Amino acid sequence: MNEENQIATETETVSTTTAAAPFATLVEPQRAMNAQQCVVVIFGASGDLARRKLVPALYNLASGNGAAGNFKILGVGRTQMTDEEFTNQMRDAVQSAKDTDDFAEDKWRGFAGRLNYMVGDPNDDGVHEELAARLDELKRDGAGTNYLFYLSTPPSVAPSIIKGLSAAGLASETEGWRRIIIEKPFGRDIQSARELNAVVASAFKEHQVFRIDHYLGKETVQNILVFRFGNTIFEPIWNRNYVDFVEITAAETVGVEGRAAYYEEAGALRDMVANHLLQLLTLTAMEPPVAYDAESVREEKVQVLRSIRAMTPEQVAERTVRARYAAGTIDNQTVPAYEAEPGVNENSQIETYAAVEFRIENWRWAGVPFYVRTGKRLARRVTEVVVHFKRTPQALFSRTPKDEIEPNAVVLRIQPDEGIGVHVGAKLPGVEMKTSVVKMDFRYESTFGVRSPAAYETLLLDAIEGDATLFTRADETEAEWRLITPIEEAWAHGDAPPLSTYAAGGEGPEEANKLLAREGKGWRKIAK
Ligand code: BG6
Repeated sequence: MNEENQIATETETVSTTTAAAPFATLVEPQRAMNAQQCVVVIFGASGDLARRKLVPALYNLASGNGAAGNFKILGVGRTQMTDEEFTNQMRDAVQSAKDTDDFAEDKWRGFAGRLNYMVGDPNDDGVHEELAARLDELKRDGAGTNYLFYLSTPPSVAPSIIKGLSAAGLASETEGWRRIIIEKPFGRDIQSARELNAVVASAFKEHQVFRIDHYLGKETVQNILVFRFGNTIFEPIWNRNYVDFVEITAAETVGVEGRAAYYEEAGALRDMVANHLLQLLTLTAMEPPVAYDAESVREEKVQVLRSIRAMTPEQVAERTVRARYAAGTIDNQTVPAYEAEPGVNENSQIETYAAVEFRIENWRWAGVPFYVRTGKRLARRVTEVVVHFKRTPQALFSRTPKDEIEPNAVVLRIQPDEGIGVHVGAKLPGVEMKTSVVKMDFRYESTFGVRSPAAYETLLLDAIEGDATLFTRADETEAEWRLITPIEEAWAHGDAPPLSTYAAGGEGPEEANKLLAREGKGWRKIAK
């Protein structure tokens, strides 16, 4: 048996096993081996994201079957640290990361040998030349000349890094590939997104640019496309003839988690709706792409965003809700109100909850409202897309409207309990004709027996391989802000809708219920 066959057999075993397999085997070995040798340069390496997500994801990639990705890591940060101190910090990070469940000394030793650190403030003159010299040193040690730059830095720093890389000759692909990953938020409104895109385009070609939205790396988010376009039975009914409305929820139990400085500038709309929730909406609503590749998929997603009209201030008053949490109880713990969180400004008007009704004005979706909502400190952590279908034309089995069978629904559960539920009407056992709703349920964990790789793991590997399908294109980021900026502007003028409150640990503000109730619809409950 040649090596390729052996790998294929191993992969099949992983996908059919029902016992829990170790997490690190989840990235297909073949894919990981194809990943070319490169240096991953992380700007903001002493920051929170690098510690919590990026380095643990790279550890998983590096230690999975010992074959995943032939890369070195060069952290760049403002904190004074030696290579050794950085390595020790990253060891703690990998050991305590939620997504790494197979920390092992031998794997760690192999990984630690890949880590390097350089002290550098991206705003300082000469730092990028210093970086180029350090990369040359790594090249002499056999690290190659392909570079993946990861901007895990505040958005305000991005332009100076991009210009600096370009000036130091590090954006040019004459000696190997050069790619750049840019973290969200990508700007804070349409104007700043355009400006940032222009700076990026002055240094890099679009095929080198990877704007990250980590929701696209979640397996269940990608599965929306497989569910829709890998089956024939759903697509014929996935339109205004059969669908009544769509609701998309991303509820969290956490508060601002020490990120008040960032959150006070962002709020729920910029933090979650402008990116993650609009991405879920486009995947749910898009037309089938001609191929599963970066250009075709992103083209269809942009078309959805273009089909939504930007709201007038009157529409913002009618179709949006903003609120913030008051004190309350979550999991039997008392939690403070938002304004009592450390770092929150006394006069803050920032929302921790947003709900928006979007209307997609195209042939498929005209007349079908898409309601999205997100909030911190809600009753339960749940992210899901629910497609509600219309009632049957005839109420054959009921004498009163109260007895009518609930309409069908498809629930795409992104997290937790990743899976898909289809709700259908069925006859209750017994001599009488009584009906109820039953749920046909597919769960990733029980079906496949493995945990999905962390989003950052998938996305880092994609970037190393140069596959931008799961990253947002320049025009896509601008199309997202085109919808969000008018809402932010109307809210900033302070009139409508007013900022309301909700108790921490609850379902969110009453106004969000009214948003749907006026159309005779309702949200699914967040609490179990
Ligand atoms: C981030 C937001 O992008 O997504 C956070 O900045 C939020 O505020 C997080 O908590 C949610 O991500 P996940 O993967 O936990 O759903």
